[in-house]
Amino acid sequence: MQRIRNELELLQKSNHAHILRVHGWSQWSGSMALILEYLPGGNLKNFLRNPNSRIRTILRLRICAELADAIAFIHNLTKEQRLTHGDIKPENILLSADLHCKLADFGGAKLSSHTGKAGKQESSSEEKYELTPIYAAPERLGDEPVKPKKEQDTYSYGLIVHMVLTREPPHVHYPNVAKYLQAVVKGKRPRTEPIEELKLSYKIPYKRQVIETLENVMRKCWEHVPSLRPNMLDVRDELHNLLRQAAHAEVLQTVTDAVASIEINVPSTDDHHCVPLDFFDTQTRKFGMSYFVKTLRLISAGKCSNLKIMLFANLVLNRLKTLYIKLYKYFYDRTKG
Ligand SMILES: Nc1ncnc2c1ncn2[C@@H]1O[C@H](COP(=O)(O)OP(=O)(O)O)[C@@H](O)[C@H]1O
Ligand SMILES: [Mg+2]
Repeated sequence: MQRIRNELELLQKSNHAHILRVHGWSQWSGSMALILEYLPGGNLKNFLRNPNSRIRTILRLRICAELADAIAFIHNLTKEQRLTHGDIKPENILLSADLHCKLADFGGAKLSSHTGKAGKQESSSEEKYELTPIYAAPERLGDEPVKPKKEQDTYSYGLIVHMVLTREPPHVHYPNVAKYLQAVVKGKRPRTEPIEELKLSYKIPYKRQVIETLENVMRKCWEHVPSLRPNMLDVRDELHNLLRQAAHAEVLQTVTDAVASIEINVPSTDDHHCVPLDFFDTQTRKFGMSYFVKTLRLISAGKCSNLKIMLFANLVLNRLKTLYIKLYKYFYDRTKG
């Protein structure tokens, strides 16, 4: 109990954006209650399984990037200490109302020094922790108990990425969980056909690139040999960089779509509110006198009902530029006077 409290204290001091807040706890004869921040979005498992949840590429990426951030953080808690979560699975990842994710349920977490020595206040009963075999690394599936190591979290993270991409649990194409686990120990992994289909369904290059990067991360994380799995700090950085690029690409795409859906009115030469801009000096970006003469002629001929005049011309690079010129009243008054 004391061990759990120490670890929670350490975590909460850090106030990390993607780790569930613990506001406090209450302890009485062998029991402990945690007072937690409430996350209304429920857990990731229900979110992914709900056929009504619309999960776009960039959201898949953000979920994976934020979770990588949380895991990288606990794996490098202080200079000397790291925390292994030990039970990373979709039920232990919670979502806020705006679908940001937070890592929760540190009941099986294990504190150790970077040299691999375990934390001090352990007792044998606290050593036993819940293991969710579907998401457990193959080295944890043998008969002999193994020490929790950060590489095991990395493996579980790989399976979460798989689930975010496919929206199906890892063992779904095996007759049962036991058969799936036997296969995992022999080096088999969940099926990846749905990811291929997903890639083919995207015609926009950056979306396909996001899926390919996530798939690549997934494969590295679920390597059979623990030492071949990547450091979560590198995964975090790679995914956050991609998230920034993808967000930019998404905005550009949204603008392109929006532009295609609206009508842009380019004034024509027939329109008496328009003056061809042969008089515009592209070097000085000023109008020559002849422009004003022409404008003023239009005004005096009563062809402009107001003082705003649209101008357009085939300017630099053969592009049609439309300029909106606001004429101030004193020009008008001067011509009258
Ligand atoms: N802070 C919370 N806000 C909202 N739902 C929560 C919260 N904590 C837990 N839950 C819900 O309860 C489930 C189990 O919580 P968890 O902390 O993993 O407990 P357990 O130790 O039983 O696994 C989560 O998957 C989630 O659906
Ligand atoms: Mg749990």
